[in-house]
This record gives sequence, structure tokens and C-alpha cells, in this order.
Amino acid sequence: MPGMSEERGIGVIGVGWVGLVTAACFAELGRRVVAMDIDAQKIRGLGRGQVPIHEPGLGDLLERNGDRLAFTTEMEDVLESARLLFCCVDTPPTYSGDADLSQIQTVVSQLSEDGGHALVMKSTVPSGTGRAIRRGAPKLAYVACPEFLREGSAVEDFLHPDRVVIGADTGDEWAADAVEEVYRPLGGDIVRTDVASAEMTKLASNAFLATKISFINEIANVCEEVGADVTEVARGMGLDKRIGPSFLRAGVGYGGSCFPKDTQALKQLAGNTGYHFQLLTAVIEVNELQKRRVIAKLEKHLGPLAGKKVALLGLAFKPHTDDMREASSLVLASRLKGEGAEVRAYDPVAERRAGELLPTVEMCASAEEALEGADAAVLVTEWPQFADLDWVSLRERMAKPLVVDGRNFLDAERLRQAGFAYEGIGRPTGNARRRNSTPPRHPFAFPTGSRRT
Ligand code: UGA
Repeated sequence: MPGMSEERGIGVIGVGWVGLVTAACFAELGRRVVAMDIDAQKIRGLGRGQVPIHEPGLGDLLERNGDRLAFTTEMEDVLESARLLFCCVDTPPTYSGDADLSQIQTVVSQLSEDGGHALVMKSTVPSGTGRAIRRGAPKLAYVACPEFLREGSAVEDFLHPDRVVIGADTGDEWAADAVEEVYRPLGGDIVRTDVASAEMTKLASNAFLATKISFINEIANVCEEVGADVTEVARGMGLDKRIGPSFLRAGVGYGGSCFPKDTQALKQLAGNTGYHFQLLTAVIEVNELQKRRVIAKLEKHLGPLAGKKVALLGLAFKPHTDDMREASSLVLASRLKGEGAEVRAYDPVAERRAGELLPTVEMCASAEEALEGADAAVLVTEWPQFADLDWVSLRERMAKPLVVDGRNFLDAERLRQAGFAYEGIGRPTGNARRRNSTPPRHPFAFPTGSRRT
């Protein structure tokens, strides 16, 4: 359909986190949007103004643009009102680590005879998916337009993108032009490329960010051995423009619905072609081990954890979201239970979802309640309000004054002044230095008693 200009509405298929943000933001840009999902309950709720996820700013956008947004369970409604169909369905990992493309297959099967529409793929898919779809449905135009939104700042990210990647193969340029037209008002660089390269750009971007995190986590682990402070190291590294400061925060590992899934998917994608992606394999393994390092830090102070009361502050995989998918807290809580600890937790918004996933963890209504009588506090998610807790009075309410800061988020000095033993990730601990009389092993130690004159 050369020369098509996207005057018609925009279709969004799949009203999960990406789909809902996409629909709301396109409506904010003045577009009419018809968003479809097979989950009738969710669609009914949205029709009544209920927002099913916690995402800053999203509720306001949906309310403000209600007259431009329609929600439906019928594909027909979308096809009637839009030519560009933004596909935002889930592609969860399968047991093999490959992405599960069944929801995409269902969508494509409803469009394969369709000549007037373009499927714009926002869902993260293995490189090669677009071309396979195009081969199976030759009448359907196809554009790969990967999503780079972060949870917790998705609206902001959507409206102010660093770049928009638009991939189309020969014959589908008209559809890519239409997608570019929709995104152009947002600014940001537009990268026009072929479908496979666009798909790969998404996977490579997430894999690279995950690599940065596992890298700084390993540096943190070495810092602990040599008495350096990873936050200082990261600051010094990040000022080098070639490195950059972001994604150098050491902690208890990355989680969420994207990095764990996409690193696995890229590793499997490479593996399926016979290539062993060694670096990515290590990145994934480092992340798994990183979630468990808190246990040793607690044991250092408390001895065996059986019967000890441990309070987890924050459960979501990161702040400003209630998303618990692959959250480090899940592994950590299970390990603590495995050691026989009593685990309590507080999260400002993820409590309900976390309660279903962690039935043996006692969910508390406030940080103070979780910390009452606790032998240790473990900060897992850096919700801003945890920095403002009255740690001086909390010291009196806890059984033991121990804080393990899994995100290097709290003010270590203030906590030490309040009488706490403070353990960060990759930071020197006054307590550890006092405990270990032997200094770290050093390859350049001067030989003692053999000074030459
Ligand atoms: C990530 C990417 O940042 C987005 O660009 C991408 O669109 C998205 O995945 C996706 O594929 O849908 P998201 O998972 O929302 O976004 O969250 P991030 O802010 O990237 O954080 C992911 C995890 O890394 C969190 O658990 C966070 O705590 C951890 N992290 C992040 C660190 O441990 N250290 C850091 O320095 C940064």
C-alpha cells in the first residue's frame, strides 16, 4: 500500500504492560487507538477506568485520553479501525530458554489472509521471526519496531525515546514510513534497517545492559576481597564517556520480565545456530549467584540462620513497579527459608503479587512492622522511602542492628552512626575489617625481615 498515510486509528494487540503504555501514549499524541486483548475481564476493567498495573503516569494518560481510546476483545474491531497493528503480546520463555511465540502465532493466524494491514512487532522475538511470519503470510506487511521502555518509567521513556528502531524488508517500506510518521513527533533518532537487524538490536541491547550489570557485580565481589568500594569504582569508570555511568549499580542481580528472558533467548538463539555465546552464558550465571550472596553476609554476622528473623525491604524487581517477575527477592526469600530463617517482607506496591508467589513469607503493612524484632534488615528493592526511614528509632525496635543493603542505596555512614552493622555489595565494611586480622592477599606484598640496606 505505497503512499499510505496513517490517518486511520492505531491498533494495539495485547494489552499487557507494553501494549497499555503504547496505547495510552499514542492516544496522548492525538491518535485514535483501538486496543484488543483476549482477557475479557481486563478489557472490562479498562473500560471502567481500572488500570491493571502500577506504572507512574499511566493512569492519568488513560483518563485524559479516554475519548481517543477504545478497548475490545474482538480482532474485527481493530482491523476495521486501523491499518497499523502494533503487536504487544507476551513472548515468555519456554523450558528450553527459547521464546514462546504461540501468542504471536495466534495473532498472525487471524491476519494471514489480510492484504491491507501491517503488523508492527513490539513484542521481543528471536531474530528471524519476522521473516518467517512474512513467508507464511505474504499479504501481510511486516515491520519490526522493538520496544526499549523500562518499567517504572515507561511513559516517560515512550514520550522521550533515545531512538526508535524500525526494520522492514523490501516491499514493506510503505509500512515502515507509516510507523516512522507515527513516532516522528516524539523526537529521538530514527534507525531504519531490515527486519532481522531490528530484532537483533533489541536482543543485543538488553544483553549488553545485562552484561554491564553482571560485570559491575563481579567487580563488586572483587572489591570486597581487596577492600575497595564499587560505588567509587563505578563513578570513576562511568565518567569515561566510552563507558558511561548507567547500569553500573552493583547489587543483588537483575530481574524483571526482560533481562532474564532475553539473555536466555539470545543464548538459545545463538545455540540453535551452533554458536556457543560464552560471554552471555557467564553473564547469566553471575546473575544467578549474585542473588544468593546476601546469605553469606547475614551468616557472617548471625551465624546459622535457622530461627533468625530476617526482614526484606522491597520485593519488586525494581522500584516504582509491582512486577515480581524474576525478582531477586524470590530467590533470596526461598534461600532464606531453606536455611530455616523466618522471613518477613514489606513492599509499597508489590505486596499482593508477592504474597501469591511467596506464601510462606509474612507480608507486613509497613517497613516498621517488618523490622520489629528482626535480626537483620535486607534491602532488596531501592524504593526511595526506605532512605527516609527513622533508622535511629528502628535500631531500638530491631533485635539486632544489622542492615544488608542489597542495592548500595542507604547512607552507610548514617546507619553506622545510628549503631548498625552495615553490609553493602562491594563496599568495605568497618565490621569485616575489624573481624579479619589478616589483610587481603596482595601480589606485591613486601617480604618481611629481608630489607636490603
Ligand atoms: C529493560 C531495559 O532497560 C529496557 O530498555 C527494555 O525495553 C526492557 O528491559 C524490555 O526489554 O522490555 P526493565 O526490565 O524495565 O527494562 O528494567 P531496568 O531498569 O533495565 O532494570 C532491570 C533490572 O536490572 C532490575 O532488576 C534492576 O534492579 C537491575 N539493575 C539495573 C541493576 O542491578 N543495576 C543497574 O545498574 C541497573
